[in-house]
Amino acid sequence: MRDGRTFDAALEDAAGSLEDADRRLAHEIAAGVLRSRSELDGSLAPLVERPWRRVEDDLKDLLRIGAYQLLRLNRVPPHGAVGATVEAAKLVRGEKSAGFVNAVLRRMARELGRADRHDEPGEPATASVAALAQRHSHPEWLVARWVSRFGTARTEALLIHNNRRPYIFLQAARWTPERLREALRGAGIAVEAAPLEAGLAVRGGSVRALPGYEEGGFIVQDPAQALALRFADLPAGALVWDACAAPGGKAAILARRCRVVASDLGLDRLRRLADTVRRASPSVRVMAADASAPPFAAGRLDVVLVDAPCSATGTIAKHPDARWRLRPAQITRLASQQEALLRGVANVVRPGGRLVYMTCSLEREENELQVETFLEIHPAFRRECEDLFVFPPDAGTDGAFAARLVRTG
Ligand SMILES: C[S@@+](CC[C@H](N)C(=O)[O-])C[C@H]1O[C@@H](n2cnc3c(N)ncnc32)[C@H](O)[C@@H]1O
Repeated sequence: MRDGRTFDAALEDAAGSLEDADRRLAHEIAAGVLRSRSELDGSLAPLVERPWRRVEDDLKDLLRIGAYQLLRLNRVPPHGAVGATVEAAKLVRGEKSAGFVNAVLRRMARELGRADRHDEPGEPATASVAALAQRHSHPEWLVARWVSRFGTARTEALLIHNNRRPYIFLQAARWTPERLREALRGAGIAVEAAPLEAGLAVRGGSVRALPGYEEGGFIVQDPAQALALRFADLPAGALVWDACAAPGGKAAILARRCRVVASDLGLDRLRRLADTVRRASPSVRVMAADASAPPFAAGRLDVVLVDAPCSATGTIAKHPDARWRLRPAQITRLASQQEALLRGVANVVRPGGRLVYMTCSLEREENELQVETFLEIHPAFRRECEDLFVFPPDAGTDGAFAARLVRTG
């Protein structure tokens, strides 16, 4: 740190006597500020009247701490982030500096309220965003978000992908892929191989009318989701809790190798889950459970799969109205929900067991940042490998994200 102490030593002095949860939060904020200091400075400098380099060092640190919470920590409400930082400024520097910190952070909170929280520096050029949004019929805020993340060319490829007529993708379940292909061809249905070597593609029509539906010969599942399951690479015979399971596509595929307990919330979702299981994978045990309050003893399970509720920005091609229903604030809300789900299930994974987190979102706060927050708070877990991210126009499929975490102790 600035006085020469290591990060761990400085943090131990400052936060060593706090309760566990507060100490973890202090660690997360301090580490986060260090990792993203230049980005934070870039966001703060335009909000300060004098040149940023002329702001005193300890005042800069206070502002970075407040800004990090506003920009990155979904679970800290903006008024809490501003209030706590202003209190700290009073203690460290007195009333006048506290007023300055208050003004800068409030301004940031106000602007974020308009633009939603963001993860990436760099404002996209407004003209090109508006033109892209209009040309490809997407909301401007979503296009702006994607341009800052993926750049203009890749965003345009994504917008074009989202406007293509989608295939229906089938994965063999109780039938072999060969039997499924023959039955479809026999019924005069044109069948193609799906991308990513994951299943069969057919065009249009009613899924229920396809041969093999009632017999559970197949399930409807996008190749990106099938790839995410392959990426999870679950050991044969493992005891798996699919904690967000409805309508049950992943549970049905996993049940071919593993012992699966599948749960969800709400009668309607459970009905859909039970229907998939009845047709395609009767060995799956179905139950109602809130994943954030697991009905299992600590350390009981080999694998927990959290296929989280998400903004589904990777599946817009399949749901043409979804782009207009989604609001920026929903992404923030979903990120908090995902955080609670991950926090809830962590304890039931056995030491040496695996936690697999998946979404069909393209948004960093629901994907990589979510995993990073989890790992900061749960040091017993680490990533087993690089995360999987499928970008729709690259693969010709939906988008998908998956992370494989192992509990080490
Ligand atoms: C992306 S979907 C899961 C898709 C499913 N894994 C599949 O492959 O068919 C997310 C699911 O999470 C469920 N969910 C949301 N909050 C939950 C909670 N607290 N506990 C359990 N399930 C929840 C939703 O009802 C929804 O069915």
